[in-house]
Amino acid sequence: MRILVTGGAGFIGSAYVRMLLDGRAAPLAPGAVTVLDKLTYCGNRANLDPVRDDPRLRFVHGDICDADLVDAVVAGQDVIVHFAAESHVDRSIVGAAPFVTTNVLGTQTLLDAALRHGTGRFVHISTDEVYGSIAHGSWTEETPLAPNSPYAAAKAGADLLALAYHRTHGMDVVVTRCSNNYGPYQYPEKIIPLFVTRLLDGGTVGLYGDGGNVRDWLHVDDHCAGIALVQEKGRPGEVYHIGGGTELTNRDLTARLLEACGAGWEQVTAVPDRKGHDRRYSLDITKIRNELGYAPRVDLATGLADTVRWYRENRSWWEPLSGRAGTTAAGDGTAPGGTGGSAGTGDPGTPRPDRPAEAGTADTAVGSAW
Ligand SMILES: NC(=O)c1ccc[n+]([C@@H]2O[C@H](COP(=O)([O-])OP(=O)(O)OC[C@H]3O[C@@H](n4cnc5c(N)ncnc54)[C@H](O)[C@@H]3O)[C@@H](O)[C@H]2O)c1
Repeated sequence: MRILVTGGAGFIGSAYVRMLLDGRAAPLAPGAVTVLDKLTYCGNRANLDPVRDDPRLRFVHGDICDADLVDAVVAGQDVIVHFAAESHVDRSIVGAAPFVTTNVLGTQTLLDAALRHGTGRFVHISTDEVYGSIAHGSWTEETPLAPNSPYAAAKAGADLLALAYHRTHGMDVVVTRCSNNYGPYQYPEKIIPLFVTRLLDGGTVGLYGDGGNVRDWLHVDDHCAGIALVQEKGRPGEVYHIGGGTELTNRDLTARLLEACGAGWEQVTAVPDRKGHDRRYSLDITKIRNELGYAPRVDLATGLADTVRWYRENRSWWEPLSGRAGTTAAGDGTAPGGTGGSAGTGDPGTPRPDRPAEAGTADTAVGSAW
């Protein structure tokens, strides 16, 4: 089976590629895995280092909005697993344009190519944020979408487009909507890696508002295991929730991170709340559990301890990134504070010198080898 993974140099996409190639997704039997990634500020080829010598892996540096490139890359693929996106809510509040371009137009470009080439299956990776906020209970897959942030609205647009290509053209599309992920290789602008890297350095972190926003935390390996099940056995045209981690307020999460990093509350500052901050997300995962036999395996205490250990032991991965992340708005549910933080101003920072802002340069090549 030939699998195209868009955004495969990002946090979750790279975890999926590593899983495909290291044998944990044996039923999918990938004969070839192509990663198409623009390498934006958060895309990082080092995320694929553990599998970089695998002869089945091909890396294409390029933009999912580049129709000619996408057409060439999609040709001959059996499955597309589409992760590529602008993914940080705070950045979407500062400027929504790249979110609409990549998340909506990029998805449409991919869908059109998949339609032209008769790709067997299109797995669209969406998010629980498309539903907005819920005070009590949990969303089912039938709940109407009501996104609040520009990020969530752009993801909702992509999600609905993917489903529309199934209904209109009969394309084999499946959509997953997942809760908040954590784990290794997450760019240090989202709450867990941001807090952990700052706390390990003895810095301070900023907590949005009253810290009472609730998120369901799922280890990235459990997300990828759910995606693999949907890729293998999901019914065409269906949406599947992937969640079932642990619901925590940001304050409770902060307490756990402080303890794991050997830090104290004096390292936490309160900062003004994010604009339009969703209060609570909660997914009902009955459907994927009953239909596909999904169950999360990593409990939060173990997963967080492993994640903190990974950041402790892999400074060479994040230290080159943290200067840049320190000037950005912080992760979901938080705002930066302390060392280099801009206290929730949402400043998206400047492009990293070591990452091209645009693909399509001399570095872009279909099938460039590792
Ligand atoms: N992180 C979470 O908690 C979470 C939860 C649910 C769903 N999701 C979804 O999962 C997907 C992956 O999220 P992530 O956290 O790994 O994001 P990420 O920001 O770490 O990675 C995104 C990747 O997409 C690439 N990319 C961005 N624009 C591109 C373009 N125009 N063309 C090609 N590549 C491009 C980036 O270079 C990067 O490698 C996203 O679609 C996101 O909406 C994330």
